[in-house]
Amino acid sequence: MARRYTSKLTWDDVTPEHLYLNRRQIMAGMGGVLGAGLLGAGAAQAQGDPRLALIPNEWDEITGYNNFYEFGTGKDDPARNAHMMTTEPWSIEIDGLVDNPGTYSLEDILSEVEIEERIYRLRCVERWSMVVPWNGFELADLLNRVGVQEGARYVAFETLARPEEMPGLRVPVIDWPYREGLRLDEAMHPLTIMATGIYGRDIPNQNGAPIRLVVPWKYGYKSIKSIVRISLVEEQPVTAWNTYAPNEYGFYSNVNPERDHPRWSQAEERRIGGGLFSRNFPTLMFNGYEEEVASLYEGMDLIEFH
Ligand code: MTE
Repeated sequence: MARRYTSKLTWDDVTPEHLYLNRRQIMAGMGGVLGAGLLGAGAAQAQGDPRLALIPNEWDEITGYNNFYEFGTGKDDPARNAHMMTTEPWSIEIDGLVDNPGTYSLEDILSEVEIEERIYRLRCVERWSMVVPWNGFELADLLNRVGVQEGARYVAFETLARPEEMPGLRVPVIDWPYREGLRLDEAMHPLTIMATGIYGRDIPNQNGAPIRLVVPWKYGYKSIKSIVRISLVEEQPVTAWNTYAPNEYGFYSNVNPERDHPRWSQAEERRIGGGLFSRNFPTLMFNGYEEEVASLYEGMDLIEFH
C-alpha cells in the first residue's frame, strides 16, 4: 500500500484576509466543498515568503491561461476551442507490464479511488507559475489496482488525439499524440496525482478533462492532459517535448533553478494573476517539493539528467 501523503498546506495556511472576501464570492454556491478553513487566518504566513504561501490562483486565471497545444498554441486558444472535445464516455487503456490490462472506463477507475484536494504549485518551463487547488487521487492507487509486474520500470502516458475535435492537431508542432513518461518510482510517489477537478468542480476541458496527470515538482509539460492510455514499460518512453528538442527538454524535467533552459534562465518565475504575488520571485528547487522528492534522485547529476 502506498504511503499516504498528508498535505501540510491547507486553506488555513494559504488564505490571507485581503483575498478571502474575493474568494468567498467565487466559492459561493459551490457546495461548501472547501469547508470552514476558508475563513481561517493565514495572513501572517502569507506576508512571509510568497513562494511558501500557496495562494491558489483565481478560477478564471487557471482556466483562461493554458497550454494545450491540441487546441492551438495561444494561451487563450484552449479556453476558446476545448469545448469541442467530447469527454463522455471516456476510458483509459492500461497495458504493458500489468497483471490486469484492459480498457477501464472513467467511472470504473473513479469507483475505486478516494478523491482529495491537493493545493500544488504549477511551474511552466516558460517561466510562469500558478497555484492550483486540484481534486484527484494518487496515481499509485490506480497502478496498484492494475498490478504492476516485475520488469516495469517506467510509465508512459498518451493524450487523446482526435483531429475532428482538436484543431491544433492540424499543425505538426509536435509529433502527436502528446506523450509523456515517468520513472516508476516517480509515478508511485504520493505527490503524483491524477486530477479530475479544480476547486471542487469537474476539471474544465482546457485543463485536461476528464482526467490528467499532475506532477508538481516537474515542469508543467510533464503533467499530461486528457489521458487515454497508460503503459507500464521496461525502457524509458519517448516523450513529446524531448523528441522535439532533446537539448531543451529532458526526460526528467525536474524544476531546477540552476539548470537554465538553453534559451532562458530558469532562476525566476512570474506568478500569474493580480495582487501581491504577481511579480517575479526565485524558483525553488524541485518547485518547493525538495524535502519530499530529492531522495528519488540521490547520486544523479541533475544538470546532465535534466
Ligand atoms: N498536455 C497536452 N496533452 N497538451 C499540452 O499542450 N501542455 C503542458 C501540460 N500538459 C500540454 C499538456 C504544459 S506546457 C503545461 S504548463 C501544462 O499542461 C499546463 O496546464 P494548465 O493549462 O492546466 O495550467
